[in-house]
Amino acid sequence: MQRRTSIHGEWSSRLIFILAAAGSAVGLGNVWKFPYITGENGGGAFVIVYLACIAAIGIPIMMAEIMLGRRGRQSPINTMRVLAVEEGAHPGWRYLGWLGVVSGFFILSFYSVIAGWALAYVFYSGAGLFAGADAEAVGSLFEELVSSPERLLAWHTIFMVVTTAIVSRGVAGGLERAIRYLMPALLVLLLVLVGYAMTTGHFGEGLAFLFSVDFSALDQDGLLVAMGHAFFTLSLGMGAIMIYGSYLPAGASIGRATLAIAVMDTLVALLAGMAIFPVVFANGLEPGAGPGLIFETLPLAFGAMPLGGLFGTLFFILLSFAALTSAISLIEPAVTWLVENRGQSRVRAATWVGIAIWVLGLGTVFSFNLAAEVKLFDKTFFGILDYLTANIMLPLGGLLIALFAGWRMSRQSSDEELALGPMYNAWLWLIRVVAPIAVVFIFLDAVGLLDRISALF
Ligand code: TRP
Repeated sequence: MQRRTSIHGEWSSRLIFILAAAGSAVGLGNVWKFPYITGENGGGAFVIVYLACIAAIGIPIMMAEIMLGRRGRQSPINTMRVLAVEEGAHPGWRYLGWLGVVSGFFILSFYSVIAGWALAYVFYSGAGLFAGADAEAVGSLFEELVSSPERLLAWHTIFMVVTTAIVSRGVAGGLERAIRYLMPALLVLLLVLVGYAMTTGHFGEGLAFLFSVDFSALDQDGLLVAMGHAFFTLSLGMGAIMIYGSYLPAGASIGRATLAIAVMDTLVALLAGMAIFPVVFANGLEPGAGPGLIFETLPLAFGAMPLGGLFGTLFFILLSFAALTSAISLIEPAVTWLVENRGQSRVRAATWVGIAIWVLGLGTVFSFNLAAEVKLFDKTFFGILDYLTANIMLPLGGLLIALFAGWRMSRQSSDEELALGPMYNAWLWLIRVVAPIAVVFIFLDAVGLLDRISALF
């Protein structure tokens, strides 16, 4: 096949791709979301299912997404359109690209609000508000922040403006260099936090919570949340990794890149868990406290450790930055599509998409204060968006990607693009059978169908 090139540019090396994709994967999902949903779902059993989903579903699907992106070399919508033609598949496959764009809008609209919390905490820490604070003081600091629509709105606006400005310039620019240093720095600070957690006297309890497996603590919804989080944390199922794959130079190994990204992402999440739960137990806090969990626990750690003000400030700067590199990948598929199909400049395209997401984000801003009591299925606006995207839209997108890559694409094309050698058959088996069946099984389980079927026997 004649190789295509992307009109949006290319990464300058394979390492840069790994860093950018890891920058997309590592974000609030690892540090903010993983600990709080682990806490809500009882710990060890949830963690094991999440790890199994990363290995059996996430890794093969990530390889498929990168592969499709590199072969199509366009926005996910156009990539799916072109590949469908090329592989003789139904033109309807392009709607997979659309599903991804909508998922990206929904996710970034609340992601930006949470990133705003991290930004606010940079200043709280810098102002010395954590020094010597107890659980009650730290809890009311968080309450004060989220109960103020003005403040949440201001931080959300700042975060969206920065994201849009960077995406306007193209992702292969200055960001590349920054990720190279900031990501390792985040890892180091997480290690510092784990070091502090070891001094709390509750480290063992934290580890036991994370790693001792008790399946009776995990219900069907927990199973779905664990799978959904595997997609969310690896940025899968919406085209973010696909668009990054479209900038990957030909000939770079997709298999090795994927493993590196998945390992790094998982490591960050587990370290975050190991830093947080000992502090939770040492202070008699509730593991299932919800979305505020890290904002109500980490300040206690920074408040009690030497140089905590400095470490805390740095930590929240790095977390904000990690959120930024994830946000960029959430908005990029829509922006590239506008550039390709509407002939808009990157700046215009990014501005329009940014404004639309900002407006949608107002729903999340108010869901923590003015509209906190407005609920559907017992969930606020934020809760619904989060649940719908992570647990339904991303796994559905991922399932369709697996089916396309495994069954619609010719083996010749995928073999050529992946160049996995003897591992190709293992990948093919995972993408054709294991990943789709696992996703469908967990979906059916979550709506109670498996119970009803097994009741028949
Ligand atoms: N993976 C990121 C995190 O864990 C969030 C993210 C970025 C994402 N791009 C995505 C999630 C695409 C789903 C799809 O914070």
